[in-house]
Amino acid sequence: MTFTKQDYILRRSELVGKLKEGAVLLLGNNLSPRNFERNYYPFRQDSHFLYYIGLDTPGLAAIIYQDGRTVLFGEKEDESEIIWSGKGTSVSDLANRCGAEDFKYYDALGKEIALLKRDTMLHYIPPFRGDNLIKMAGLLNIDGKIEENIKIGGSALLARKIVEQRAIKSTKEIAEIEKSVAVSKRMYERAFQVLEPGLRESDIAAEMQKIAIAEDLPQSFLPIVTVHGEILHNNNYKNRLGKEDLLLIDTGVEIPPSYYCSDITRTFSVARKFTERQKHIYKTVLKTQLEVIKTASPEVSNVDLHNLAARIITSGLQEAGLMKGDIDESVAAGAHALFYPHGIGHMLGIDVHDMEDLGDVVGYPDEKRRSGQFGLSFLRLVKKLRPGFVITVEPGIYFIPPLIDKWKSEKLHEDFVNYREVDNYRSFGGIRIEDDVLITDNSSRVLGPPILKHIEELEKI
Ligand code: GLY
Ligand code: MN
Repeated sequence: MTFTKQDYILRRSELVGKLKEGAVLLLGNNLSPRNFERNYYPFRQDSHFLYYIGLDTPGLAAIIYQDGRTVLFGEKEDESEIIWSGKGTSVSDLANRCGAEDFKYYDALGKEIALLKRDTMLHYIPPFRGDNLIKMAGLLNIDGKIEENIKIGGSALLARKIVEQRAIKSTKEIAEIEKSVAVSKRMYERAFQVLEPGLRESDIAAEMQKIAIAEDLPQSFLPIVTVHGEILHNNNYKNRLGKEDLLLIDTGVEIPPSYYCSDITRTFSVARKFTERQKHIYKTVLKTQLEVIKTASPEVSNVDLHNLAARIITSGLQEAGLMKGDIDESVAAGAHALFYPHGIGHMLGIDVHDMEDLGDVVGYPDEKRRSGQFGLSFLRLVKKLRPGFVITVEPGIYFIPPLIDKWKSEKLHEDFVNYREVDNYRSFGGIRIEDDVLITDNSSRVLGPPILKHIEELEKI
C-alpha cells in the first residue's frame, strides 16, 4: 500500500483548510556539497516537502493556495547535467506525479510570491539549512540578519497546523513504519548472529548496514554501534569488542520514496552471557520499557510515562545498592538523571525525531515550557498521547564517569545516590532498549515484528 497523488492532494487541502487564510510556501532541499562544489552528501528531501508533495527530487519548491491549488517550481533541464546525472524527470511530469495543478520554473518563484503577497498572507516555515535560508531571504526580499528576520516572519500557525496533521499517523503511514522496523529486525538479528569478542564495532556496523544498503535504504540517522553506550550519541566505531563488554546498537532505516523510518535500540552482551550486575541493570531497563509500553495509551501524558520510567529505574538501582531514600522524593529531585539523563522518547515518522525542525511546538502544548531540571529538560514530548501518535519508548541506564565525578564533587543528591557503590560501576557502560510504539484507540502496540530483547534470547548461542 503506497501513497497515491490523491493522498498528497488531500494532505494539502487539509492543511490550507486548517489555516483558513493565506497560502503556504514549501521549499524542498538542494544537493549539498561536501568538500568541493560537485561532490555531494547523499541527498535527503525536506520532510514537510515529502509529506505534502511526495517528491524526493532536489531543487523544488511549491506554493499551496488557499483553495488547495498547488504550483510546483523546479529547475529547467540543463544539457550538461544530463551527461553527468542522466535525464531527470521534467518539472511538468513531477507536477503531474504529485497532483499539482500547475508548474513553473524556479526563476518565476520570486515574482509569484510578490504577486501573491499583494492579496493574501504567505505562511512559511523558517528553514534550518543555510542554503535554504539564503534562498528564502532572496525570495522574500529579506536582508540584514537574515536568520533572525526570517524567523520573525515565519508562521507559528503553520507550524502548529503541520504538527496537528503529521502527528496523527494513518494506516498507510503506520504500514510504512512497520516495513522499516521489519528491516531493522533483520539488521539486529544479523548483528547478534555475527557478534564475537575481538571484532570491531565497525564490523558489526558493516554487517547491519549491508542489509540496508543491499535494499537501497538510507539510515535514518548516523548509526550508534558502541561498547561505550554511556556516550549517548556515540558515532565512533573503532573499539574492539571485549568478552565482558555490552554492545549498544541504536539504528534505523528509511523507506523511500515515503521515507518513514524506524529507530530501534538493543544492548547485547558480547559474550552472550550477562554478568550478574549486567543482568540486573538489563532487567531493570527492560522492565521499565515493558511497563511504560503497557501504560502508554490515549490521554496519558508522556511526562507521566517519563516519571514512571524514572521510578522503576530508581527502584532497580536501589536494589543494586546504587541509590537510596524515598523513591517519589528522589524522582521529584531528579536524582535518577545521574543514570538516566535523557527523555523516555520522542515522536517518530518521516523524521526520526519527527518534525523537530519546528521546535518545541511538536512536543509541548502552548502553555508548557521545558523543565529546567537536568534530565527532564531533555524530554522532547510532554503532550498527552492521542490515537495515531507514533512514539519511541527508550529507557536507559548509564554510568557516565565525567557526570559521576561532577555530581560527586558537588555532593549532588547525596541523600539519594550511594556514590561509593557507584564508583564500582565506572566501567559498566550503558544499556538502552528502544522500540517504536503506536498509540491505538485504547492502548498501544509495538510496531513491526518483535525484535529480540529478552535475556533468554540474548544468551542463546
Ligand atoms: N536514535 C537516536 C535518538 O533517538 O536520539
Ligand atoms: Mn530514539
